[in-house]
Amino acid sequence: SRSLNLAVIPGDGIGQEVVAEGLKVLSAVLPQDVKLETKEYDFGARRYHATGETLTDADAEALKQHDAILLGAIGDPSVPSGVLERGFLLKLRFLFDHHVNLRPSKLLPGVATPLAGQPEIDFIVVREGTEGPYTGNGGTIRKGTPHEVATEVSVNTAFGVERVVRDAFARAQARPRKKLTLVHKNNVLAFAGHLWTNVFNAVAQEFPDVTTDYIHVDAATIYLVTDPARFDVIVTDNLFGDIITDLAAAVSGGIGVAASGNINPSGEFPSMFEPVHGSAPDIAGQGKADPTATVLSVALLLRHLGHDAEAVRIEDAVSADLAERGTLPARSTSEIGDALSARVAG
Ligand code: IPM
Ligand code: MN
Repeated sequence: SRSLNLAVIPGDGIGQEVVAEGLKVLSAVLPQDVKLETKEYDFGARRYHATGETLTDADAEALKQHDAILLGAIGDPSVPSGVLERGFLLKLRFLFDHHVNLRPSKLLPGVATPLAGQPEIDFIVVREGTEGPYTGNGGTIRKGTPHEVATEVSVNTAFGVERVVRDAFARAQARPRKKLTLVHKNNVLAFAGHLWTNVFNAVAQEFPDVTTDYIHVDAATIYLVTDPARFDVIVTDNLFGDIITDLAAAVSGGIGVAASGNINPSGEFPSMFEPVHGSAPDIAGQGKADPTATVLSVALLLRHLGHDAEAVRIEDAVSADLAERGTLPARSTSEIGDALSARVAG
C-alpha cells in the first residue's frame, strides 16, 4: 500500500480556512490504498510572537521527513514587514532548494477576467526560486545620511540558471504547443542577461522540437494583457517571475484561483505547495476566502508526487465548479470545499 506523509502549515489569517478545505478535497480524492498522514505545524505570526522563532533548524529537520508540504499563508500586520517573508518563506525555499517555482495560469470557462473578450489563457511560468535578487546579497553604506548608497545584488549561477531552464524546456516539450519563452531584460542587465540568454540557447539545442522565443520583461507585461495566448511556458528569474505571475493571476481569474508549487525536482527535499494569495487578515475567520487556489495547489502537489489521475480529477472538479459559480448564490469557504469534495469523490 502507498502512503502520503504531508506537512501541513495553515499559517496566518485565511491560511487556516483554505488549508482545511484543501485537506478535505485531498482526503476525498485519494484512493483507498493510499494512506494519508498529516502533521500540522504552527509557523507564522502566533509562533513568532510567542517564541520569536520563524523557522528553527529543528523545524527544518522535522519538515524534511515529509513527502511534501501544504502551506496556507504566512504574514500578519502585527509582524514587521519582511520578518516572516525572509525568516520563514524564503528561508524554506532556499533550505529545501525549491528552484522551480511553478505558477500555472489558465483562464477557465465562466471565470471573469478584466481583459476584453474571452482570450485563450493557458500557460505556465517557471520562476527561478533560489537566486536572483532574492539571495539577500547587498548592503548599505553611509546609512541614514543624504549620501546613503544601497546595493541589491542579483546572483545568477550557470548551475542555477541551467537547471531551471532545462526544467522549463522539459515542461514545454510535454505540452501540446511545445513553446518556451525566456523573459529577461538582457538589453540592460547585461551580465545576468548574457548568462540567461546563452544558457537558454545552449539548452535549446537539446530540445529541437520546442519553439523558443525571447521577450524583455517590460514587453512581456504588455503581451500578458494584449495577447496572453502567445504564451505556453515562460522561464524567468526570481524577481521578474514574482512580478509577472501576479499580473498573470490578475488576468486569469484572480488570486482566488492562482496556485503554485515551490518544487525541488530531484526530490532531495520536500516540495511545498501554496496558493499565490496571502493571509488576507481583513477577511480572516469569516468564511469568505475562496479555497480554490489551495485546492488547485493540492492538485499540483499530487501531480508532483506522481498521482496524476487524482490531480486531473481535482482540476476537472474545479473547472466544473467554476463554470457553475456565476449561477449560484455566494458560498462560504467550507461550502466551496464541500462542493469540490463531492465532485472529486463522485
Ligand atoms: C510570492 C510572494 C513572496 C515572493 C514574498 C512574500 C516574499 O510575493 O510568493 O510571490 O516575493 O516570492
Ligand atoms: Mn509575489
